[in-house]
Amino acid sequence: MELYDVMRTTFSGREYTSDALPDDTLYRILDHARFAPSGGNRQGWKVIVVRDRATREALSKLTEPAAKRYAAQQANGENPWNTIDPPRVDATTIERTQPPARLLETVLKSAVVLLICVDLKVVASTDQELKRVGVISGASIYPFAWNILLAARQEGYAGTITTLACSQEPKIQLLLGIPSHVAVAAVMPLGRPVKSLTKLKRKAVPDFAMLERWGGAPLAPKPS
Ligand SMILES: Cc1cc2nc3c(=O)[nH]c(=O)nc-3n(C[C@H](O)[C@H](O)[C@H](O)COP(=O)(O)O)c2cc1C
Repeated sequence: MELYDVMRTTFSGREYTSDALPDDTLYRILDHARFAPSGGNRQGWKVIVVRDRATREALSKLTEPAAKRYAAQQANGENPWNTIDPPRVDATTIERTQPPARLLETVLKSAVVLLICVDLKVVASTDQELKRVGVISGASIYPFAWNILLAARQEGYAGTITTLACSQEPKIQLLLGIPSHVAVAAVMPLGRPVKSLTKLKRKAVPDFAMLERWGGAPLAPKPS
């Protein structure tokens, strides 16, 4: 496929056939994904390949608390889990909220689940002294995660970066023996997709790119 077509059509795969994703294919996927960039080329990624049913069920259960809050805030017209506006839904409302099954089931139904971890002892987090949530550490792991999805696509598979379970990181660390300095950046189900989406919903360039300063004129295509 042409690169731009790949970029415009690589979707979040959440429904899978019963096809397996064998270790040798997974090896190939990771062997290409490892060329992702990371700060200082530190390559702090670690991947745990999960096929065990009990572990998947535990991961699905650990997805629930964050999924409930996500769904409750969304139903209340909020941007779920953002760090700027405190949630306007209370704990009781969150507890009563039924999260959509698709958020909990992917880890149970995929051919394999990858735990994408990052060793915080090696990653440069240059925003660590700012008074806001850290974002720079993520930049040393999500390009790698995205590369996995691109390589999976090349092999005929699809998956999703999921992060809801990461709100329960200490429990995941305990479950899988992950050291406390290693963060769980994503839980990634992968499998052969039931269908391929080709029309992704995204904002147009002038909706997010502006010239010279915040609030500057939108970057618009030159009239032809
Ligand atoms: C950082 C990040 C976290 C995400 N977390 C979840 C998640 O927890 N569960 C899930 O089903 N999808 C998750 N997604 C997938 C997004 O929902 C998806 O990328 C977005 O809806 C666009 O979907 P599309 O590419 O199919 O259009 C996440 C994506 C990113 C990049």
